[in-house]
Amino acid sequence: MAEDDKVKAAKKAAAKKASAKKTAAKKAATKKAPAKKAAAKKASAKKAGVSGYGGGGVDVVMSVDQVAKEAASIAANAPTKSELEALAGNDSFLTIKDLRAGYGKMEILHEFSLNVGKGQSLCLIGPNGAGKSTVLHSIFGFTNIFSGSIVVGGKDVTALTPSQKLAEAGIAYILQDKSVFPQMTVEENLLMGGFLKNKPAEAKIAAEEVFDKYSRLADRRDKPAGVLSGGERRLLEISRALVMQPQVLLVDEPSIGLEPRFIDMVFEILDDLQRKDGKTIVMVEQNAKKGLAFADIGYVLVSGETAIAGAGDELLENPDVGRLFLGG
Ligand SMILES: Nc1ncnc2c1ncn2[C@@H]1O[C@H](COP(=O)(O)OP(=O)(O)O)[C@@H](O)[C@H]1O
Ligand SMILES: [Mg+2]
Repeated sequence: MAEDDKVKAAKKAAAKKASAKKTAAKKAATKKAPAKKAAAKKASAKKAGVSGYGGGGVDVVMSVDQVAKEAASIAANAPTKSELEALAGNDSFLTIKDLRAGYGKMEILHEFSLNVGKGQSLCLIGPNGAGKSTVLHSIFGFTNIFSGSIVVGGKDVTALTPSQKLAEAGIAYILQDKSVFPQMTVEENLLMGGFLKNKPAEAKIAAEEVFDKYSRLADRRDKPAGVLSGGERRLLEISRALVMQPQVLLVDEPSIGLEPRFIDMVFEILDDLQRKDGKTIVMVEQNAKKGLAFADIGYVLVSGETAIAGAGDELLENPDVGRLFLGG
């Protein structure tokens, strides 16, 4: 346990260091281009106030189009592969390399790369339609992959089906929003998470571990899942994925549709899974402030490419990110 924490702390420090270097380089680059910065400032002063991102008020953020335009111009100095590797402490556990993927013949992700270390968390933010969910879909096997590779723990998983990913590669995609069956009991919902286990008894043991961990669920194990609160339902959705004892958790917008007090609860649960159980987490979060505060690493995705990458808490301080995604 303590050993895990140590590894984790070292990785976080590595992410920070790598990112600090990058911020410095970026500052120097910004200095050289004051005209560009002034133009960006002018654009941001417009504040269209239609719809936006992050936790800020709607009146302080920009229109979706404006965000996309600005973010595209920032993408001019996109992070290099070695910068992405450094953020993962140069010890990548989940590695996406030069991925071109999409739906049907349409390519959504263009030469997309990602690195996250074992026990680290990475949050993808960015405008609607940028391809954030498509990254998670690609890792889990829901997209067409045209080229590039996805490796987890040294194993090439690019061509595996979702059930192989879950059963053989330890990757779980957390289904959410109406994925709980309201008439079935909490326990039955949970056991469904183990449908790929070879022996039902194994799923049962894993389910008991979940109940030991979360008394909120244990207290209601024989009740229909329909009686659960929004937060408890999200907990059940996360727990169902845990029955397969995955190493990598893919989480798409964990806070969506939840009241603020449940949002904090969900982030605490994810934090616990990362820190205590050493799970590697890749998440997409519309609430960029929460997502970046949580994650070791943040990527800003724009039009299927990474425009900005850095340590989560440093992206929170990055003025470009703040202006575009944090509503301030
Ligand atoms: N199942 C699908 N079939 C076809 N196109 C899709 C599908 N899912 C998403 N897309 C398209 O892929 C692009 C990226 O979508 P998505 O990854 O969901 O963006 P984000 O999660 O960043 O909002 C969008 O243009 C979207 O319309
Ligand atoms: Mg999405």
